[in-house]
Amino acid sequence: MSEPAPTKRLFIKTYGCQMNVYDSERMADVLSPLGYAMTQTPEGADLVVLNTCHIREKATEKVYSELGRLKEMREEALAQGGARMTIAVAGCVAQAEGEEIMRRQPAVDLVVGPQAYHQLPELIARSHRARGERLSANFAPEEKFDVLAPTARRPTGVTAFLTVQEGCDKFCTFCVVPYTRGGEYSRPAEAILAEARELAAKGVREVTLLGQNVNAYAGEGGLAALVRRLAKIEGLDRIRYTTSHPRDMDDALIAAHGDLAELMPYLHLPVQSGSDRILKAMNRAHTAESYLRLIEKIRRVRPDIAVSGDFIVGFPGERDSDFEATLSLIREVGYATAFSFKYSRRPGTPAAAMPGQVAEVVKDERLARLNVLLDEQARAFNAAQVGRTLPVLFERKGRHPGQLVGRSPYLQAVHALAPDRMIGQIVPVRIEEAARMSLSGVLAQELEPA
Ligand code: 5AD
Ligand code: SF4
Repeated sequence: MSEPAPTKRLFIKTYGCQMNVYDSERMADVLSPLGYAMTQTPEGADLVVLNTCHIREKATEKVYSELGRLKEMREEALAQGGARMTIAVAGCVAQAEGEEIMRRQPAVDLVVGPQAYHQLPELIARSHRARGERLSANFAPEEKFDVLAPTARRPTGVTAFLTVQEGCDKFCTFCVVPYTRGGEYSRPAEAILAEARELAAKGVREVTLLGQNVNAYAGEGGLAALVRRLAKIEGLDRIRYTTSHPRDMDDALIAAHGDLAELMPYLHLPVQSGSDRILKAMNRAHTAESYLRLIEKIRRVRPDIAVSGDFIVGFPGERDSDFEATLSLIREVGYATAFSFKYSRRPGTPAAAMPGQVAEVVKDERLARLNVLLDEQARAFNAAQVGRTLPVLFERKGRHPGQLVGRSPYLQAVHALAPDRMIGQIVPVRIEEAARMSLSGVLAQELEPA
């Protein structure tokens, strides 16, 4: 298929999780045959897509303030004789609030949920037609992943996301995901493998498999079998996956961490709370004890694995003693990194209606204490790498001249002076310094006597 030269400017702003990052790239892919090319700012764009997040109230509110800014920008551009910017809202706010968004902000031209991105060209055409404009290309709507064909992918670097599973059936009582992303759906392994081969052929060395419940991947043999097949692809040297649920962490996947060199020693395994009473109210289907046993089991096969987690403070009914239980679980696990959140009441979720909503000041205080501990652990984890030589996959140039930035197996950012040709290579780096968020080092080869 020959493609028209890009004639329209597309700006996509992505909020929230990595799944949205992946989806934004695929939206750009699907719009590219229609002549849309990506730009870095909304100014002067023909089409602006906000790929939104609904997980916490703050994320949702950000979308509405951005929409207000875009509306003003469009009015100014029109007053100066510019083209009319089309404003689209995609992602989980679109799914959760639907056309309500257009009532709250009439400047919005179209709303498209995460399962309908393949219909984006048609929706844009319809919105243009409603105003007497026409779009040039036709598009036959099919299933999301069928239309977003692997060959259309244009990876921009040496690492890429690859969605293998979407949606969630777990119904944690605080979470909107089962409502915004729908039930669990796993892509066929063949489609995933084809996409991975395409990425590898285009220079990608590392893929991160994405799913709201990625380790619930339901293809034959589960996620472990999929990872083993992916590991055989020529050029694909590193595999990661996120996000996992403790309940779906099966023995086959744990075993893969023990014997598959391509599977990186990093595991994002949210626990949310260390209190069994709260875990039960959250409908998490695990206890603090069962989570700790699981971590132990994984560390038996991969002692150096970097464990990451998510935590919520101030869930309804959380007492000081529950919060202390969370701190003590964290001390026992020792996290490499973590994400911590104040409970945010989401309309329609069971927890929103629970008694014992926790005061904001209490949440603030608990979050601050939690972060002190998590920060200490992150620093300790990074500091433990000093003096070690780690294989680093260089991804891009750094901020300083001559410097490259890459990732360690543990997902730490690593800075080192290295020639540009090493972008895309996995190179041993001796770690010399550690900070809260990153490491720096020198190429191991330069340390050897010539
Ligand atoms: N309030 C606060 N945090 C939440 N998360 C999900 N829903 C909420 C909520 N209502 C957090 C969980 C989840 C992460 C992606 O976001 O920790 O693992
Ligand atoms: Fe939300 Fe729980 Fe599903 Fe994670 S497992 S997406 S927190 S409902």
